[in-house]
Amino acid sequence: MARLSCFLLLLLLALFVSSVAGLRRSEFPPSFLFGASTSSYQIEGAYLEDKKGLSNWDVFTHIQGKIVDGSNGDVAVDHYHRYLEDTEMMHSLGLDSYRFSLSWSRILPKGRFGGVNLAGIKFYNNLINSLLQKGILPFVTINHFDVPRELEERYGSWLSPEMQEDFTYFADLCFKMFGDRVKHWTTFNEPNLMVKLGYFSGKYPPNHCSKPFGKCASGNSSTEPYIAAHNIILAHAKTVNIYRKNYQAKQGGSVGIAIDMRWYEPLRFLDPLFFGDYPRDMHQILGTNLPKFTEGEKQLLKNQIDFVGINHYKTLYVKDCIFSPCDLDTYTGDALVSASAERNGIPIGKPTPVANNCVVPSSMEKLVMYLNQRYQNIPLYITENGYAQIGHSSTTVEELFNDTERLSYIRDYLTYLSFAISQTITCLLPLCWKGANVKGYFVWSLMDNFEWLSGYTIKYGLCHVDFRSLKRTPRLPARWYSKFIKGSEQIE
Ligand code: NOJ
Repeated sequence: MARLSCFLLLLLLALFVSSVAGLRRSEFPPSFLFGASTSSYQIEGAYLEDKKGLSNWDVFTHIQGKIVDGSNGDVAVDHYHRYLEDTEMMHSLGLDSYRFSLSWSRILPKGRFGGVNLAGIKFYNNLINSLLQKGILPFVTINHFDVPRELEERYGSWLSPEMQEDFTYFADLCFKMFGDRVKHWTTFNEPNLMVKLGYFSGKYPPNHCSKPFGKCASGNSSTEPYIAAHNIILAHAKTVNIYRKNYQAKQGGSVGIAIDMRWYEPLRFLDPLFFGDYPRDMHQILGTNLPKFTEGEKQLLKNQIDFVGINHYKTLYVKDCIFSPCDLDTYTGDALVSASAERNGIPIGKPTPVANNCVVPSSMEKLVMYLNQRYQNIPLYITENGYAQIGHSSTTVEELFNDTERLSYIRDYLTYLSFAISQTITCLLPLCWKGANVKGYFVWSLMDNFEWLSGYTIKYGLCHVDFRSLKRTPRLPARWYSKFIKGSEQIE
């Protein structure tokens, strides 16, 4: 009997492992987009060329001590000059789509307080055209963290309601200039992180927070993050409104937003979110620190989204600290109980060469199914998912050909994504639907690049970049991803 159950257990395990290992492209809908992501500041370089204005990140990275290796994005991986080579690389990998962001200060060097930089428009026109010529769909983020220095200096950027006007002005120009060819737009990349790191913990520009976080330029962390988020939420809604009114019918595209979403495995419960206004408990907890929407703004906010972009990398445990005692020893200010995060067998507290070490591929399915149910089958894109190595930049055989951990990461997360897509019927009466409405998946990142506070010490690339010669070389997972996308064979 014991032998039989052991055998059955092994059989089940083998079936499970083979179903994970034998992932095929055909398990995704035919129109599903497979791609890779980047962002302007992280790859473009050419920070002072062709009349580009300075961004907040150009200024911030030049302050000594801000970036661990003392580096900056002045040159980054020189994509500004090498975009043709990079487009060719994407083509040879067989990518369906490429997600990139527009540098606001390259297009509008002084925001709306100066002219349009035609060289900036030309660069993105060339990039978009070269992608389309290769059959690669541009998936464009209007803002990925970098804002013109001018706006930061004038009124502290996102702390001012003026920024809503600045952003809609910029977005409107982008729709006008590129919308004939770009059909997938996201307003913001990870505004939730941008606000937290810029105005709460003070790690990103404008470096605002308050004690006990220390090392801040200035700020008031009990109100500023909410004011900045408030302005960003309204800027998003107004932008979608402009697109729907003036462009959508003609151009036929859609607009979403990409949010950093960790999966929080509840130890107790997960509070629900509400539409059209902040969740009730946020009002209760924050009181007057939370800005208020007018009735008109609440109406404007509802359903101002065509799709949700998910940037998903890791899983953490979470519990409430409001209605039950919180273990303060393990509170880090990030996740409530991050010390007990699932670490996929990596001993807790032990330094590891992997940056995102809370790897739990099954969370991809849970997260996607949760959003699918909560937002009633809204279209979803996985706008980022990826795996990083920490280390030097020499092209070792190890890095290029034995990069099996990154390969497994991408394959396993994709496998659980395919489970979510093929899930059985879900009903929220009167509506019923099958599986999650996921339309695309983008690996972060196409190539190694400038990883914000970590400079060039953390490498997320499908393709390795030698930071001295700037030569790009596909790693093992790039070759795997390519074969998988081309559907030429079943990948083990
Ligand atoms: C999310 C951000 O959008 C991107 O800029 C960053 O490099 C990756 N995650 C990796 O940390």
